[in-house]
Amino acid sequence: MNTPIKRLEKLEIKMKKKLNRIAKDTNLFLKNFLKKQHNSKLIQAMKYGLFPGGKKIRSKILIDVGSLMSIDYKTLITIGAAVECIHAYTLIHDDLPCMDDDKIRRGKAATHIKFGESTAILAGNSLQTIACEILASPNLRLSEKIKINLVKKLSECSGHLGVAGGQYLDLSYEKKKISKKKIIEMEIKKTGKLFSFCCAAPAIVKGKDNKEIKFFEDIGSNVGLLFQIADDLIDFKGNSKKAGKQTGKDQKKGKATLISLLGHSNAIKYCNKIIFDVDKSLMRYGSSSKNIKETLNYILNRDR
Ligand code: IPE
Ligand code: IPE
Ligand code: MG
Ligand code: MG
Ligand code: MG
Repeated sequence: MNTPIKRLEKLEIKMKKKLNRIAKDTNLFLKNFLKKQHNSKLIQAMKYGLFPGGKKIRSKILIDVGSLMSIDYKTLITIGAAVECIHAYTLIHDDLPCMDDDKIRRGKAATHIKFGESTAILAGNSLQTIACEILASPNLRLSEKIKINLVKKLSECSGHLGVAGGQYLDLSYEKKKISKKKIIEMEIKKTGKLFSFCCAAPAIVKGKDNKEIKFFEDIGSNVGLLFQIADDLIDFKGNSKKAGKQTGKDQKKGKATLISLLGHSNAIKYCNKIIFDVDKSLMRYGSSSKNIKETLNYILNRDR
């Protein structure tokens, strides 16, 4: 019988296969891209933060949305590689002693533990700028205008109104009583905005109007919010070994999360509501949105 548990197991196997392929193709692209650059003292720390790399869930959602619009796989992998560079930079900085002070990342010593703090900061900065280099490079066979729009949107999503601003809020909310609205706003910024870029990028590539781009950005914010709440759930209940990072830290640090405010089961209910709302807004795409739905369910039920 196909019990809910069996269905989840099947979904996990299917998703892992797809994610592995995306990870392989993205890492190959990034390795070749870095190989073509002159050597530097920072490249080793940059590669350490970038490889073997994480789940590539942001690239997966970019590919899911991109295939709704029939964009070719190579273009999507290239844009996803830029996103993964930004993501790797944010993780390196997130683990620093002045931020979350974490020592393990992706199952190994955090970049600053291995290379020292100043090198980790500079490697992170360099990964951020590599992302723009990738989008501007001839590897991406798109018009100059579209490339500029991609760089603009990625910068917007990463900066003070996006990831960096959200990280600031996350740190400033520690050990304080924060409202639900503010927690959601902070999580959308620190995590949701990069997912917004992933969902909006295909619409930018297709030259869609601002309304359509905003529609996909909003979907991305919700997917990213879902992703962050699921990450908070992993911290709350998950296994460190499986997660590849220490768990049980949010409570110790007094992080403001929906779990600390509403409790574990209400946080899960909230996630299911996000999935329902995103599914509903994608109804007009019919069965072509099934990959996105599959990714959303994986995001909530993953253990890493
Ligand atoms: C972890 O992101 C940081 C958050 C935004 C919650 P991921 O869980 O995607 O990290 P990797 O890339 O798989 O290591
Ligand atoms: C990180 O959130 C969000 C980023 C933008 C890096 P967390 O601090 O919860 O991520 P983990 O749990 O350390 O991976
Ligand atoms: Mg953090
Ligand atoms: Mg952290
Ligand atoms: Mg976390």
